[in-house]
Amino acid sequence: MLLDRVKPLDAILATAEKKSLHRSLGAFQLTMLGIGAVIGTGIFVLTAEAAQKAGPGMMVSFIIAGVVCAVAALCYAEMASMVPVSGSAYTYSYAVMGELIAWMVGWALILEYAVAAGAVSVGWSGYMIGYIEHMFGTDVSDALTLGPFDGGAINLPAMAIALLVTLLLVRGTKESATANAILVGVKIVALTAFIVLAIPVMNMEKFEPFSPLGFGGISAAAASIFFAYVGFDAVSTAAEETRNPQRNMPIGLIGSLGICTIFYLLVAAGVIGTVGAQPVGLSGGEALEPGSRALTDACGAIGNQAVVCSKEALAWTLREIGWPQIGNLVGLAAILALPSVVLMMMFGQTRIFFTMSRDGLLPAAFSKIHPRYQTPHFVTVLTGIAVALFAGFFPVGQLANISNSGTLFAFAAVSLAVLLLRRTDPTRHRPFRTPLVALVAPLSIAGCVYLFWSLDEKSKLLFALWAVIGLLVYFFYSRQRSHVGRGIIDVHEDDPDIPPQPVPPLPGIHTPGGKDA
Ligand code: ALA
Repeated sequence: MLLDRVKPLDAILATAEKKSLHRSLGAFQLTMLGIGAVIGTGIFVLTAEAAQKAGPGMMVSFIIAGVVCAVAALCYAEMASMVPVSGSAYTYSYAVMGELIAWMVGWALILEYAVAAGAVSVGWSGYMIGYIEHMFGTDVSDALTLGPFDGGAINLPAMAIALLVTLLLVRGTKESATANAILVGVKIVALTAFIVLAIPVMNMEKFEPFSPLGFGGISAAAASIFFAYVGFDAVSTAAEETRNPQRNMPIGLIGSLGICTIFYLLVAAGVIGTVGAQPVGLSGGEALEPGSRALTDACGAIGNQAVVCSKEALAWTLREIGWPQIGNLVGLAAILALPSVVLMMMFGQTRIFFTMSRDGLLPAAFSKIHPRYQTPHFVTVLTGIAVALFAGFFPVGQLANISNSGTLFAFAAVSLAVLLLRRTDPTRHRPFRTPLVALVAPLSIAGCVYLFWSLDEKSKLLFALWAVIGLLVYFFYSRQRSHVGRGIIDVHEDDPDIPPQPVPPLPGIHTPGGKDA
């Protein structure tokens, strides 16, 4: 009885057709969109945390996380091209596995997007403060720029950027295709500069010992660094606007992931080979936890002279190897580019809330549209406040891990949905088919389970707690109000309270004039 509420695929597709968007995106734009959403705090900041967990073995961690994302991306592509509507993993699950699973996926996506936006805001803050300190030769107080777990009291810059992005989203700012292309360029130039300066001066001895904390450390780092790849699902949600999705979708997904993986491996090698990447405070086969007071103290004792102590790992490395100005410029690139990742994540969050509200599972206020700005302002402000609070009080690595737990759940659900739908509806037209699905989908599910298992205990516990709260909300609130449960399928086209406003389009693919890029 619990898994019987399925939203018919044809109803979802009929809704999509009514507001179908012009198919204008090619492989290149999709790849740019992917890189724009993917490169962010993961590589710029979490490289230091991965080093603390795995030492030089983090190279293997980057490969493992990249492979899991690649197989998950292939599954996403099949669903996205077949069900090209907003809501992503949540909508796919609704059609294939029913309302309860869809609710859980949507609930997990709140962790993915909102907490990730918090993590990227904290990453931005680290670079902003480092930049100010180096440009003006001042020492900014830790109390107001670091969260309580990192040795401060509150991270005000991180809160400020989260609230600024919220304001932009309420005003209806869409990141234009041009702005996205420029910011992708800035990130690529910054990472390329890092690689060009670091790789030639590598010392291979720095790679020894390669794996000071064994395979357990490599797995833990893979589970964290998985964050660096999150965001490619933005590509799949643009399926509706893609020309020839059978060809362009996989190129966009795998292309952006492939390019990011190559950059990540080269950057990680550059860090390891120049300044070294051995964990700090290693005793009895255990390393101090990143983002903990103990690590802050251990770093203080060595004058913060290790990459794992830095909040701006790449800028710090360049300064250490004699390129302080370029280090500052790389920092500036992060300062300019990371807010667009925050924007993408918060936008994704409001889109999920919006869709769940239109399905009756969340209060109608969540899909209310601002009369002047035409944006879902209520849910945007709610999201913004939550993101600012996460960013103000929690360390970046912890936020990233919690976000990963939700993302891994959603990825596993999508991969399972692909397999199930191949059985239950084998003849449906699939603009893109996952190659070797019998192998790729189970591999994706297994990879997600393995990475989830490798997360720290706190994140797993929080995920479980979040799931329990989600189930309570579902059974005490959403189940009775569900439109599907009440036999209303395509409600938002007729409901006078909810204007027939399509979910706002994805940032990064529309020009400001509203013309598709
Ligand atoms: N992949 C994105 C980042 O690293 C979320 O910031």
